[in-house]
Amino acid sequence: MILEVTNLRKHYRQRAGIFPALRSRERFIPAVDGVSFCLEEHETVGLVGESGCGKTTIGRAILRLTPATSGRIVFDGHDITAMSARELRPLRSQMQMIFQDLDAALNPKMRVRAILAEAITTHHRLSDGEVARRIGELLEQVNLKASKLSNFPRELAGGEKRRVGIARALAVGAHFIVADEPTSALDVSIQAQVVNLLRDLQRQLGLSYLFISHDLEVVQLISRRVAVMYLGKIVEMGLADRIARAARHPYTHLLWSALVEGQSKEASHAPLNTRTGAWEPFDFERPVSGCRFAPRCPVYEARGRPAVCTDAATEPQLHDIGGRHYVAGHFPV
Ligand SMILES: Nc1ncnc2c1ncn2[C@@H]1O[C@H](COP(=O)(O)OP(=O)(O)O)[C@@H](O)[C@H]1O
Ligand code: SF4
Ligand SMILES: [Mg+2]
Repeated sequence: MILEVTNLRKHYRQRAGIFPALRSRERFIPAVDGVSFCLEEHETVGLVGESGCGKTTIGRAILRLTPATSGRIVFDGHDITAMSARELRPLRSQMQMIFQDLDAALNPKMRVRAILAEAITTHHRLSDGEVARRIGELLEQVNLKASKLSNFPRELAGGEKRRVGIARALAVGAHFIVADEPTSALDVSIQAQVVNLLRDLQRQLGLSYLFISHDLEVVQLISRRVAVMYLGKIVEMGLADRIARAARHPYTHLLWSALVEGQSKEASHAPLNTRTGAWEPFDFERPVSGCRFAPRCPVYEARGRPAVCTDAATEPQLHDIGGRHYVAGHFPV
C-alpha cells in the first residue's frame, strides 16, 4: 500500500468581507468532508466529480501542500498527517503533484532547462554533467525535443507544457504522483497522448497515480479503480469497469448520462440540475441534511422524496456491496 487516507476532512474558512468588522461572518466550506481510500503500489486510482467537489483539495492535502482539518494520511508506511517540514523532507521527493494550472506552477522567468535542473537538484546534489545526463533522460521519457530546453513555458504548446510538468515531477524522483486534471484545456488528440504517456511511464518506472479529472471518460481510460466524488464526499468507488458498466449511485449515472448526451466536456464544469436541466454552480451555503445529492437526485424524485434520504441522522455512508465496490446511498440503482 502506497497511500492510505482515513476520514480526511478539509474545511476552508472563508471571510465574508475584507473589513475586520465583517470577519465574524466567517463561514466554513467543507470542501473535503470525511474521505477514505487507499492506493496500491503501481496502481492508478481515478478521482472524478464536477468542478468544486473537492478533488484538488484532496490532492493537496494528501501531499501535505495544505494542512488537513482532520483525518489520517499514511504514505508508504509513514503517518505524514502531522509530520514536521523537516521530517517530511525525505518523503517530499517521492510524492509530487502535476498541477492543473501550469502557467502558475512553472516559473515564467525560467527556461525549461532551468526548471528541470532545479527540480533535479532539489533533493540531490549532482554535478553539472550528471544534471545534463538526467535532463536528457527525462526528455526521452516524456518525449520532448531537446530544442524545447531553451524555451520559456509561455512559448510551449499546451501538450508540451504538460510534458514539462510531468518531467518536473519525475525529475524530483517521485514514484507517487497526483495528476490534477492533466488533460484539461487540451485538444482531444493531445489528451490521448498525455494519457498514453502517463500509462507508459507507469509501466516503465512503476509509478502510482491519483488521477484527478472532471471527465469520467478520461478517468475510465487510465484508472484501475475509480472514486466518484460529490460535494466533498466519495459516493461510489470501485474497479473501473464496474463504474463503467455497473454503476450503482444515481450521481455516477448522471455523470455518464451527461457524457452520453454530449453535454459533458465544458458543461460539466458546472453541475446539472436534473429538474431544470440547467448547469448550475455548487452552493455550499444551502445546507442539505442527509444525502447531499438529494436536491438533484432523480431516484429521490421518482420514489416520492423518501424521508430517509434527507434525514440528517441517516446520511448515507459508503458500504461494501461486494467485488471491491462501495456505494453511499439508500437506493442504489
Ligand atoms: N483556498 C481556498 N479557500 C477557500 N475555499 C476554497 C479554497 N480552495 C478551494 N476552495 C473551495 O473548496 C471547494 C473545493 O474546491 P476544489 O478542491 O478546488 O474542487 P475541484 O478540484 O473538485 O474543482 C470549492 O467550493 C472551492 O471554492
Ligand atoms: S440516498 Fe436518496 S437522494 Fe441520495 S442518492 Fe440515494 S436515492 Fe438519491
Ligand atoms: Mg480542481
